[in-house]
Amino acid sequence: MEWSASSWQARPATQQPVYSDPAAVARVLGQLSRLPPLVTSWEIEALKAQIAEAAEGKRFLLQGGDCAESFEECESATIVSKLKILLQMSLVLMHGTHKRVIRVGRFAGQYAKPRTEDHETREGSTLPAYRGDLVNRAAFTAEDRAPDPQLMLRGYERAALTLNFIRSLIDGGFADLHHTEYWDLAWVEHSPQAAEFQRTVESIGQSLRFMQTMAGMAPGQVSRADFFTSHEALHLAYEQAQTRQVPHRSGWYNLATHMPWLGMRTAVPGQAHVEYLRGIANPIAIKVGPRMTPEALSALLDELHPSDEPGRLTLIHRYGARGIARGLPPMIDVVKRSGKQALWCCDPMHGNTETTASGVKTRKFEHILAELQQAFEIHRAAGTYLGGVHFELTGENVTECTGGARGLSDADLSRAYRSQVDPRLNYEQALEMAMLIARRAGEHSNP
Ligand code: PEP
Ligand code: CO
Repeated sequence: MEWSASSWQARPATQQPVYSDPAAVARVLGQLSRLPPLVTSWEIEALKAQIAEAAEGKRFLLQGGDCAESFEECESATIVSKLKILLQMSLVLMHGTHKRVIRVGRFAGQYAKPRTEDHETREGSTLPAYRGDLVNRAAFTAEDRAPDPQLMLRGYERAALTLNFIRSLIDGGFADLHHTEYWDLAWVEHSPQAAEFQRTVESIGQSLRFMQTMAGMAPGQVSRADFFTSHEALHLAYEQAQTRQVPHRSGWYNLATHMPWLGMRTAVPGQAHVEYLRGIANPIAIKVGPRMTPEALSALLDELHPSDEPGRLTLIHRYGARGIARGLPPMIDVVKRSGKQALWCCDPMHGNTETTASGVKTRKFEHILAELQQAFEIHRAAGTYLGGVHFELTGENVTECTGGARGLSDADLSRAYRSQVDPRLNYEQALEMAMLIARRAGEHSNP
């Protein structure tokens, strides 16, 4: 069947906003399709090659960032701290796994959210659900909740601003990364593994200094990081406007992000989201969770990964600590039976969301860790390689997930809860999580 950037329009598409003024939408999409792209095809191909290596067990993928970025938080300090935590985690993971880590941010375009309910009711009044800053506004008024096509342009611009700043920080050699003495480690003393974590950080610092001396390089060059972006390919008209051909290469690329992924609610064979991803040349990821049957995964491998192109497909499983032992093994069997290669990655966040007695959405550090530990075991037993992790995190000192070395409790959640959507690990919890994964990697060859 012929694919085109618009062929998804003939298929059932869920999770799409309904705009009241189609002419205004068409004008915005026209503008979007003429603006310069955010990323290039050679960066996309470089990422694909790295993912192919990860699928073979030679690299490890770290994907992380906000559940949903907000336009308001497109500001210097937030971006710096997000980059800082991801880069620091990647050094910790490299130290533990002895593998190069691919860094992929859930940012510079993570502005659209799938919602279980199309509407939200508060005190008797019903309005469209908030679908992310790309679509509408979070405040609960009819005006704010009406999908506004101009927000697609504002989102594209903010994605560009974010990416521009990230690239400059990385090119400039970002001192908070190369000098472990600048890391924020006050939490470590509260951890039962305090002494061991101190040694890890000292050892990373020594390794960096040793490499600088050996190679005679400036600190910034030694750990100069490739950095890639990803977002959920949810809003298909927006994604279509970014889908382009480039000189000297065949095929079509989504040039608004390096690695688009499909969420659990839209990874449905034969439907619009899958049809869209089918034809683009980017490496893509699919969330694999309790809503997907083994038959559906098999159909998705046919549709999205027909030629078994190296690096093309990442499967991000997200079953929750209570569901992974039952849910994941049949999915591993499907991929094994297909004879195709995919990179397995664990998202230990989305299957572990719960609501406190007072109605706050949260996740427990111990459940997140428990799912990860089981994921490593299940893949080891199956003879497959868990080659990546996917986190919702922020570099800020928020209180959205409980647990971790400081023992945050439900009572702490009200102190600094800022997420509009899902609860994120804060700086300390994220770094501790990386330490615990790296620690396990010291014990096994597959981390
Ligand atoms: C997400 O990654 O924010 C998300 C909604 O995940 P999932 O599709 O796995 O539920
Ligand atoms: Co989320």
